[in-house]
Amino acid sequence: MSLSELFDLSGRIAVITGAGGGLGRALSEAMAEAGADVVCADLDLEAANQTAAAVLALGRRALPLRCDVTQQRQVKAMVAETLAFGGRLDILFNNAGISHRPAPLHKLRSADWHRVLAVNLNGVYYCAREALKVMVKQGSGKLINIASIWGMSGSARIKPLPAYTASKGAVVNLTRELGLEYGPLGINVNGICPGFFATGMGNGAFANPDFVSAVSAVTALGRVGQPREMKGAAIFLASAASDYMCGHMLVIDGGALAH
Ligand SMILES: NC(=O)c1ccc[n+]([C@@H]2O[C@H](COP(=O)([O-])OP(=O)(O)OC[C@H]3O[C@@H](n4cnc5c(N)ncnc54)[C@H](O)[C@@H]3O)[C@@H](O)[C@H]2O)c1
Repeated sequence: MSLSELFDLSGRIAVITGAGGGLGRALSEAMAEAGADVVCADLDLEAANQTAAAVLALGRRALPLRCDVTQQRQVKAMVAETLAFGGRLDILFNNAGISHRPAPLHKLRSADWHRVLAVNLNGVYYCAREALKVMVKQGSGKLINIASIWGMSGSARIKPLPAYTASKGAVVNLTRELGLEYGPLGINVNGICPGFFATGMGNGAFANPDFVSAVSAVTALGRVGQPREMKGAAIFLASAASDYMCGHMLVIDGGALAH
C-alpha cells in the first residue's frame, strides 16, 4: 500500500456526532479532505448544516442531521439515515460532548451530573451500539471515541469538573473494552484524548484570557490547540494507517499530560 493509499478514505462513509462544534467541524473537514462522505449530526441542526456546507465545499457529499445522542430513537434514526445515504457506515466519531458549571462534588447540582453523563457516556454507548451493529455485519469499521486528557487525570487544579472527568474516564476504559470485544471482528475501536482546544466548549472558557493563560501554562507547547490540529490524528485513526491499533487512546494535548 502506498503512503497516500494508507491515509485515503475515498468511498468511506463517516458519521460525526457533535459535528457542528469546534472539533466536530474539524473532524468532518478532515474526513472530507481524505475522501470520505460525511454525515454531520448535531443537536443543533443549524450548526450541522454549516459543517455540511463545508464538507460540500471540499467536494464530498454531506448529510446534515439533527440528532440528540441522549435519545436512543434519534440515534437509531441517525444510523438508518446514514445507511440510506451511503449504504454503509465505515467511521464513527463519538464526538458530541458537554461540560458543566465548575463545582467540587459536594456543591455539584445533580442535574449537571446526570446531564453530563447522559451526553458524554450514554450518548457514546447508544451511538457505538447502533454503529457496531452495522460494522459487525460489514466485518470492518473504525470507531473513534473523543474523550479528554481529563479522562486520564483530574481537572481540579484548573477547575473542578467531577461529572465531566468521571464521564471521560469512563469513555477511556469503554474504548479499551470495545477494542477487546470488536478487534477480533475486524473493527478498530480507538479514542482521542484532546488537551485544550479553542472551541465553544465550557461555556466560552476559551474566550477568557485568564483561562487560556492558565491552561497554556500547564501545556508543554505553551499554547492552546486549534481545531485544525486534530485533523492528522483523526485521519490516522479513521484510515488503514492505524489498522494495527485497537483499544488505544491517542493523546493530542501539546504536552499537557507530559509533566
Ligand atoms: N475543546 C477542548 O478543549 C476539549 C478538550 C477535551 C475534550 N474535548 C471533547 O471534544 C468533543 C467536542 O467538543 P468541542 O470542543 O468541539 O466543543 P463544542 O462545544 O464546540 O462542540 C460540541 C458539540 O456537541 C453538540 N452537542 C451537545 N450536546 C449534544 C447532544 N446531546 N447530542 C448531539 N450533539 C450534542 C453541540 O451542539 C456542539 O455542536 C467533546 O466530547 C469534548 O468533551 C474537547
